[in-house]
Amino acid sequence: MFKKDVYIERRKKLKQKVNGGLIVILGNDEAAMNYPGNDYLFRQDSSFLYYFGLDMPGLTGIIDLDNDKEYIFGDDVDLEDIIWMGPQPSMKELSYNVGVKNSFPTNELSDFLKKAKASGQKIHTLPFYRGDNIIRFADLLGINHKETEAYVSKELILAIIEMRNIKDKYEIEELEKAAAIGYEMHVTAMKMCKPGVYEREISGVLEGITRTHDGMISFPVILSQHGETLHNHYHGNMLEEGKLMLTDAGAETTMHYASDFTRTIPVGGKFTERQKDIYNIVLAANNNAREMTKPGVPYIDVHTEAVKTIVQGLNDLGIMQGNVDEAVQAGAHAMFMPHGLGHPMGLDVHDMEGLGENLVGYDEEIKRSTLFGFSGLRFGKRVQEGNVLTNEPGCYFIPELIEKWQNEKKFEQFINYDKVNEYIGFGGIRLEDDILVTSDGCRILGKRIPITVDEVEKTMNS
Ligand code: GLY
Repeated sequence: MFKKDVYIERRKKLKQKVNGGLIVILGNDEAAMNYPGNDYLFRQDSSFLYYFGLDMPGLTGIIDLDNDKEYIFGDDVDLEDIIWMGPQPSMKELSYNVGVKNSFPTNELSDFLKKAKASGQKIHTLPFYRGDNIIRFADLLGINHKETEAYVSKELILAIIEMRNIKDKYEIEELEKAAAIGYEMHVTAMKMCKPGVYEREISGVLEGITRTHDGMISFPVILSQHGETLHNHYHGNMLEEGKLMLTDAGAETTMHYASDFTRTIPVGGKFTERQKDIYNIVLAANNNAREMTKPGVPYIDVHTEAVKTIVQGLNDLGIMQGNVDEAVQAGAHAMFMPHGLGHPMGLDVHDMEGLGENLVGYDEEIKRSTLFGFSGLRFGKRVQEGNVLTNEPGCYFIPELIEKWQNEKKFEQFINYDKVNEYIGFGGIRLEDDILVTSDGCRILGKRIPITVDEVEKTMNS
């Protein structure tokens, strides 16, 4: 947990951004795996963590804007709990640690909220993403679950997005820690990536590394020698010499700040010439994107530049053809890079996605495109100092997509299908760093994981 002043200051700022009413931020509860008491690893709600810091189930944070008061509702443990879980700090102590003076037991929350509602106070809450919290909120207010949506407040959402999109120095320190764990994960994957090893042996070790740092994975590990499937969670293949292994994996620190890196490496430790050709195109797209990212530049423009680099490289290899700008404008590049260049990252690996992707990544000036090849970009607006984003261009040969477009004779002026078909079975390459936007550019968070052909081969063979 950060020092209590951090949370006090954040709530103070939030109060200045929301115009009256009662802000209700529900923390999460335990989620049962297969029976009550046998739970998934607990994950607190990220906005609750941001404003109230406490990382335990069963809590609700309240900011009463009209009376300038803050509350945490939650229960002290009883003797039975102590027998099973050991002694725990009281709710008073916990609340004090995050600068909240008023703490009350959960059974007083419903009356508190109903009174506020009856007095005409506006109640602001955040979008729900867990069923139990919808039921909880409905029960607390004595409403039907279908009515809960009416309490989701765009004013509150926008205020939170404005704050969480700009990382402060404490958050950057945490993000650097998450990056260091990510570095360890990816270098370990490089050293383990040998023919005959099963993907699951590596993904299991990577997940274990996050636990040894008292954290967890920031999303389920993507690791496969079928990297053409963007989010491949099947880890049952035995690695074969000559294939590429794509690993997209990151960690959450104890405080739940994330990292998210992708590297694509040759099984056995040596890239073929053909692999190097595509790899270096993706690497150039990554480097160009980073060089271009600075305050004021729309990330949609950075995305466009990255895909142009990919198209130019594929033109040079004879896989694509024709005018690069026209190919990109038409969306022909989406055959090879169907996803966006990156997304915001922070307490969530896709930061604040639960608050609404378009509210986080777009604004009045820059609206989300619906064109395949651009529509997948989660963050398109102008970047600001303090934004943390991923930079993750890729190039994939997806047999089903190639077959469909070829049958439709789609973009024949830009795509040389005869040549593309030679790459069926190649897989996919993605190279992802996490970047922090600075006052005059951006920098990579953490020490850069080996990324050039030489660096990767040396690491794999060391
Ligand atoms: N790196 C996984 C994701 O962005 O969803």
